[in-house]
Amino acid sequence: MTKAWVLAGILVIAMCALTPRGGAQQKQKKDAAVSGQKQDAGAQPKGTKDAAGHEWFNHAVFYEIYPRSFADSNGDGVGDLKGITSKLDYLQHLGVGAIWITPCFPSPQVDFGYDVSDYEAIDPMYGTLADFDELVAKAKAHNIKIILDFVPNHTSDQHKWFLESKSSKTNPKRDWYIWRDGKDGKPPNNWTSTFGGSTWTLDPTTGQYYYHYFYAQQPDLNWRNPEVRKAMLDCMRFWYKRGVAGFRLDAVDTLFEDPDLKDNPILPGLDKFGFPNEHEIYNKKLPEVHDVMRDMRKLADEYDAVLIGETWTANVSELRDYYGEKNDELQMPMDLMLTQFPKLSAPQFREHITALEDAGGWPVFVISNHDIVRSYTRWGDGKNNDQIAKLAATMYMLLRGTPIMYYGEEIGMENNDPKRKEDVQDPQGRRGWPKEIGRDGERTPMQWNDSANAGFTTGKPWLPVGPNFKTHNVATESKDPNSILSLYRKIIALRSSEPALREGKYVELNGGDPNVLAFARQDFGGQTVIVALNMSESAQSVKLELGKVAAPSARAATLIAVGAKASPGDSATISLEPYGVYVAKIDSRLR
Ligand code: GLC
Repeated sequence: MTKAWVLAGILVIAMCALTPRGGAQQKQKKDAAVSGQKQDAGAQPKGTKDAAGHEWFNHAVFYEIYPRSFADSNGDGVGDLKGITSKLDYLQHLGVGAIWITPCFPSPQVDFGYDVSDYEAIDPMYGTLADFDELVAKAKAHNIKIILDFVPNHTSDQHKWFLESKSSKTNPKRDWYIWRDGKDGKPPNNWTSTFGGSTWTLDPTTGQYYYHYFYAQQPDLNWRNPEVRKAMLDCMRFWYKRGVAGFRLDAVDTLFEDPDLKDNPILPGLDKFGFPNEHEIYNKKLPEVHDVMRDMRKLADEYDAVLIGETWTANVSELRDYYGEKNDELQMPMDLMLTQFPKLSAPQFREHITALEDAGGWPVFVISNHDIVRSYTRWGDGKNNDQIAKLAATMYMLLRGTPIMYYGEEIGMENNDPKRKEDVQDPQGRRGWPKEIGRDGERTPMQWNDSANAGFTTGKPWLPVGPNFKTHNVATESKDPNSILSLYRKIIALRSSEPALREGKYVELNGGDPNVLAFARQDFGGQTVIVALNMSESAQSVKLELGKVAAPSARAATLIAVGAKASPGDSATISLEPYGVYVAKIDSRLR
């Protein structure tokens, strides 16, 4: 252990001991008293940092649930909260520590819940507040925390705030949204929606246009209005008090717009909807976003909660900004950049991981979610798909940082994209077909077993079940020690048993190798786990630079090997079959 690491450890312990937390606790108690609630379900012991300065969310494996598609308890073809509750044993056995549920609030479902019409209730399609409370309580008994999805950028056009706002130009809520006059009978400027067409829709009643970065049914809130800020923070508090452990913040990049509404510069080419590409400098990533992140963080800190950002960034430096200059913004801004790598490539992954490591901050890599083609489909080569899924799992779970898996990744679910426009549910796909087919493919029902509808529902599922459900499902894979699911279980268990994998620094072990990504994770005490991943379709033999993390005589004990082995008597030389995976622990007794 270097001197600097020892010093850092001591400093963190001292800081934890000195951090004044009593103020927040007192405030929390006051809130409960004011609201007349017995005891905040969310009140949790404070100051739970470990020696490395890490909190619960640095160690937990997060799991994203798209509630429509996870488990249907009442046979209506759409998943629900009771369905999620019924699967808590499964999630606990997998090793999940927190679930992020995408929006389950009342909504006309134009954007499947991302158009919220009431932030403080549950959509009847998913159940009731009582069902939610039951989920929180039972999840707690399973050591699983609940993360909700908060949509701050826009509401539904059916939200009472917007209905009031559009009712007249003088309504007190008029300024809660972005209203402007048109220009010569046209929208106020050239901004185009990420879901196609102008970002402006004319309201015939008042003759003004309102702004929406997404669908017209998702009007943007005006975050420059202090009443909006207060109302939205109050909504977050409502859920913290019910026991929510944090939020995933939707579309934070787009909270603010240039008040002068300057036209965006036009770029060459057309988007998938046939509109000119734009450089969105006047309606995305405005500096004011960070003020709001700081406000939300202050509130989150009162509840020991975590904020995860949907932060689409072009590079690592942009991502760094979301942690805040004083680490006072998001604890977990998502690094969505890996999802843009179309194929596995050791140099490309290595370069990106190193850049993120060098930037500091706690990494939150993302490889799949409800908006992105599943990693199984994206990175699969059609021949070695299951082996590639095992490689992706190993990389994802063993890199430094907090993983956020997407439901079904653990069983190798693949995209099931619609083949005809008339089958498309996602309006984005209906509008953009065939260039933009929408996101139905990555949102299909969870595959629980090989019975009809993969055990997801007794009714007609809202989306067709993926084609590989007979072989890739929880029941079948649970019985097979070599399945993708069994590997996930093993590797997540390894994360919790090996401190090096939770806390340890990342050390690159084969800098220039074009095919194999190899790294070590080493903790403060010198415990070391090494990982070698063959990202190529041909067999490889690598010589790892073990001298960087261990004495020359060190030996490694294999923990996981799928299509891989170390040379007898030479722990540094590993042979890997195509997409082979090797994980070993440096046995310090053999040094
Ligand atoms: C985010 C969500 C996406 C949604 C959009 C608009 O990108 O992940 O599903 O459509 O925001 O709310």
